[in-house]
Amino acid sequence: MKRLLIIGAGGHAQVVADTVLRMRDAGADIEPVGYLDDDPRLSGEIRLGLPVIGPLASINAVEHDALVIAIGNNRTRRRVYERLLDCGERFVVACHPSAIVAPDAIVAVGTVIGARVVVNTGAIIGANAILNTGCIIEHHNRIGAHAHIAPGAVLGGDVIVGDGALVGIGATVLPQRTVGAWSIVGGGALVADAVANGAVVAGVPARPLRH
Ligand SMILES: CC(C)(COP(=O)(O)OP(=O)(O)OC[C@H]1O[C@@H](n2cnc3c(N)ncnc32)[C@H](O)[C@@H]1OP(=O)(O)O)[C@@H](O)C(=O)NCCC(=O)NCCS
Repeated sequence: MKRLLIIGAGGHAQVVADTVLRMRDAGADIEPVGYLDDDPRLSGEIRLGLPVIGPLASINAVEHDALVIAIGNNRTRRRVYERLLDCGERFVVACHPSAIVAPDAIVAVGTVIGARVVVNTGAIIGANAILNTGCIIEHHNRIGAHAHIAPGAVLGGDVIVGDGALVGIGATVLPQRTVGAWSIVGGGALVADAVANGAVVAGVPARPLRH
């Protein structure tokens, strides 16, 4: 049985906790033991039946076998992931039992796949990414490490999303488009042209708000 620590204890972390609890209930060999979070106000709280044990610095005092990082901000999640990886920590893929993931899709460690997500054939998902509730990752997508595909976003076939990009809630990316690294696609946007690295785009069709 893998004892699993959840890094972060905010709203997104509770979604991740719900996911791992449902994985356990569906027969996965994991047992969530609680959360670590640097916000001292959360210490001692119980969320979804799991305790907020203490700050990240207390990690070595908590018996565990693996981690999942449940921090929504992509840059913070990357920083924490890289630090913990350097310390020799191991990460699981947390995948909600209601998600549909093609058997040949490749999902790297640390990634969270939410309820009712679809990951279609040939897709490759990088490490420490978030595929949030109900998003659709069509065939042969390549999603970079630390990216976040927000709830209800739909990515057509052969889309490439760079490392650390955020595709906002309910956005649509037309097939074969590229969403650059560390860019942000606003909620509800329709991406019809390539999005440059670091750009912020929004609207239908999506246009740059700033770079
Ligand atoms: C696009 C986005 C990053 C812009 O954030 P911002 O730079 O703080 O922008 P502001 O809120 O200051 O708005 C700037 C302008 O863009 C407009 N705007 C903001 N977001 C927009 C969107 N998604 N689509 C269309 N227009 C948008 C605002 O109405 C405002 O217009 P105005 O200047 O005419 O008043 C943000 O609104 C967004 O959509 N983020 C995605 C959030 C998300 O999905 N997170 C995942 C949660 S799980």
